[in-house]
Amino acid sequence: MEFILLQTAKHAYLEQAAQILRQAFPHCYADCAQEEVREMLEEEKLAIGAVRDGRLAGIIGAIPRYDMTAWELHPLAVEETYRSQGVGSALVAELERRLRERGCLTIYLGSDDEDGSTTLSEGNLFEHTYEKIQNIQNLKKHPYTLYQKLGYRIIGVLPDANGLGKPDIWLGKSLVRQENKM
Ligand SMILES: CC(C)(COP(=O)(O)OP(=O)(O)OC[C@H]1O[C@@H](n2cnc3c(N)ncnc32)[C@H](O)[C@@H]1OP(=O)(O)O)[C@@H](O)C(=O)NCCC(=O)NCCS
Repeated sequence: MEFILLQTAKHAYLEQAAQILRQAFPHCYADCAQEEVREMLEEEKLAIGAVRDGRLAGIIGAIPRYDMTAWELHPLAVEETYRSQGVGSALVAELERRLRERGCLTIYLGSDDEDGSTTLSEGNLFEHTYEKIQNIQNLKKHPYTLYQKLGYRIIGVLPDANGLGKPDIWLGKSLVRQENKM
């Protein structure tokens, strides 16, 4: 697998990036995937593609926040036929490597639960918030488990962010503190 910077990638890869977004998040990008790819390419951002067999297998992006010390991971998507083969994990690792070089201390992301994929969708998340985070269970393959395997921790939630019982789950990882390094 080869990693490429999407900012300097050929047009065909950008078309494939848009298609990967459409496929992964149809409810968000069905008719604005190209615009989202263009936003990923903005100068201050980082956008990486994973190429396998001459095709784009997955993409990952990051946005500098808090100056350059904390970056938001957004988006991450792997083309369906390449899933569960380590492409997503490899993209996260490559992004972290490049962000460390840019002085990033903390990487974080929001991962929505809009369809009851975790126990955080049950009841009022404003009540017993921390207890519920500690006891979270994955009900329908929510990607927070993937991030946990890669050393991320749940650092917060935004209850009802996407509607009642549809929270955003915030995960973060230190790129410098030894105890959090993978
Ligand atoms: C989430 C996603 C990027 C994972 O990519 P991937 O290439 O399949 O991930 P990997 O093969 O590196 O998986 C790494 C580990 O996480 C697990 N995993 C992968 N996807 C998972 C998911 N959706 N939920 C829970 N665990 C998952 C795998 O079992 C694997 O663990 P294992 O190797 O110990 O079995 C991919 O499923 C995808 O594009 N989904 C749709 C978009 C999305 O949800 N993006 C994330 C938004 S926050």
